[in-house]
Amino acid sequence: MRIGVLTSGGDCPGLNAVIRSVVHRAVADHGDEVIGFRDGWKGLLECDYLKLDLDAVGGILARGGTILGSSRVQPSHLRDGVERARGHVEELGLDAIIPIGGEGTLKAARLMSDSGLPIVGVPKTIDNDIAVTDVTFGFDTAVGVATEALDRLKTTAESHQRVLVVEVMGRHTGWIALHSGMAAGAHAIVVPERPFDIEELARRVGERFEAGKRFAIVVAAEGAKPAPGGMAFDEGGKDVYGHERFAGIARQLSIELESRLGKEARPVILGHVQRGGTPTAYDRVLATRFGWHAVEAVHRGEFGRMTALRGTDIVMVPLSEAVETLKTVPAERYEEAETVL
Ligand code: F6P
Repeated sequence: MRIGVLTSGGDCPGLNAVIRSVVHRAVADHGDEVIGFRDGWKGLLECDYLKLDLDAVGGILARGGTILGSSRVQPSHLRDGVERARGHVEELGLDAIIPIGGEGTLKAARLMSDSGLPIVGVPKTIDNDIAVTDVTFGFDTAVGVATEALDRLKTTAESHQRVLVVEVMGRHTGWIALHSGMAAGAHAIVVPERPFDIEELARRVGERFEAGKRFAIVVAAEGAKPAPGGMAFDEGGKDVYGHERFAGIARQLSIELESRLGKEARPVILGHVQRGGTPTAYDRVLATRFGWHAVEAVHRGEFGRMTALRGTDIVMVPLSEAVETLKTVPAERYEEAETVL
């Protein structure tokens, strides 16, 4: 068989582990040929690719990023490019394409699949917001990076008697904020799923200082928003891909907390460091398992599906289900965390 692989959307630790796994299973075990499209769907639309043999994937298991490169493509550009993509698939004699990506990529995968292309998807994202899989690889690494940063920030916050408002990624969900905040013992966590009450947040932080503590750490998911009417809030608008642009919740919150509490408050934006560098062992294993199962699905002709983790098993789920809803943090998880507002 001849299989094409691509990585699309925001990168994420573990992408290389999937690519390696696909090549090992396909080339070494099945005798297939694998090619990798450069920079995501763009590579398929422009027929820009490289051969992926065992040598090409040597030493990449623990490497962050993606050896194939990634990019975002506007949905309209993809819709217009379906016929071109089909032409390239025929020209290259491909029996299957394995796109590895998050919500946007899986939507595009569904579009390509609905138009008749043989697609087997692999979900990835540090945000952990894909509904049909218990977890995505990249999340564990991002939580680990954010937790380590929070641990470090605690010591400097205490030395200077500061409130540090730490902004973590996650788009419209609070998984990274919740897990890193719980792991590091943050004093307050705000998440997109539950608009926060600024009065309540200021009261909690203020009470901590009144009780004699000399610092506070607030974890703010980048998509968190105040409940209407509480504080002035600058929404970020949309980018060219139609994604919400986040306008800096940590900066806005630290200004608000400093003026309400009279304590120095500083924003810390962790940003892309959460996506960079080597994946954790957990993410390497999950990514490797996804790659292996994607190749098996190709050989069974199970197209229009993607790999997912359910319990300890890897299962194949329809792409149509994968992109229906976003996996948000359920309310009961906030109760367990205690410090979520
Ligand atoms: O979806 C992954 C993610 O890292 C989000 O957490 C974040 O909002 C977004 O991508 C950032 O995207 P970009 O790298 O395009 O700025």
